[in-house]
Amino acid sequence: MPLETRPIKNGFAHELLGLRLWEPLDDSTTDKLRELWARHPVLVVRRQALSERELADFSALFGPLERVVRTEWASPAVPEVGLISNLKDGQAQPIGGLGDGELQWHSDQSYMMHPATGAALYALELPPKGGTTSWLDLAAAYAGLPDRLKQLVEGRNGVFSYVKRLAGYQGVDRVISSEAKRNTPPVLHPLVHTHPVTGINVLYLDSTTTIRIAGMDDASGCALLDEIYSFATRPEFVYRHEWQVGDVVMWDNGATMHRREPFDPTARRLMKRTTIFLSRESHIVPDGCLASEEAMA
Ligand code: OGA
Ligand code: MN
Repeated sequence: MPLETRPIKNGFAHELLGLRLWEPLDDSTTDKLRELWARHPVLVVRRQALSERELADFSALFGPLERVVRTEWASPAVPEVGLISNLKDGQAQPIGGLGDGELQWHSDQSYMMHPATGAALYALELPPKGGTTSWLDLAAAYAGLPDRLKQLVEGRNGVFSYVKRLAGYQGVDRVISSEAKRNTPPVLHPLVHTHPVTGINVLYLDSTTTIRIAGMDDASGCALLDEIYSFATRPEFVYRHEWQVGDVVMWDNGATMHRREPFDPTARRLMKRTTIFLSRESHIVPDGCLASEEAMA
């Protein structure tokens, strides 16, 4: 079946029709998908039925997969597949990560110097309501930004901290170990990147990890970030995905933020995810450095 695409939100997202991801894709379809993802940060494929291996093999067409770092979230069968779920095992331990709470606007791994920016999430069980995930178009948000704000962020670096991310989690995910602190010190990333394929400027933001803007005092940095977040999160930049079982959504964290609405803790939600090192040739991949003492001062 030939690949058909349906643009969503002015092309920020695309739904792909006619794909059977459990079968090997031919080279020309694979090339088309790579080109599409470089230009459209969110891709949606519905009605899939995939094993963990098939999800991982499909994801690996776009770059090397990261082994799940939080090993307690990893699938016991395929170490590149993570479980995002509120379900518990026989010992009442969570089988995966991220529970049932709200997840605020964020970009995965923004606290890493070299983040793996691609992600795919596959829905297996869904609560009757809530748990909806939304993505934010940070290219459109940059384009719409008033000139005054563009000038204020231009050339600025944000300071991104894993400790802030952990502190925002609920339950067991929240634990801040001294090892996590030591292994993931705060990093700097530019707040604006130019996309290598489209040549357009894109904001790089994460409200759950950004602790300040380097070179600005706390009060003015926070005030600027608040202004940018409230502009960038306007509904016109948001694609809100109503999940159905069998959906696969892939997104590029270099050009988006996403959030999840909370859901009833007694309902069941099971998603499987992969994390992909996307290439700098086709995607924005922030290339950060350790935050120096001055940037933190
Ligand atoms: C993630 C994430 C949102 C969701 O996997 O990075 O933010 O809807 N998940 O579970
Ligand atoms: Mn996320």
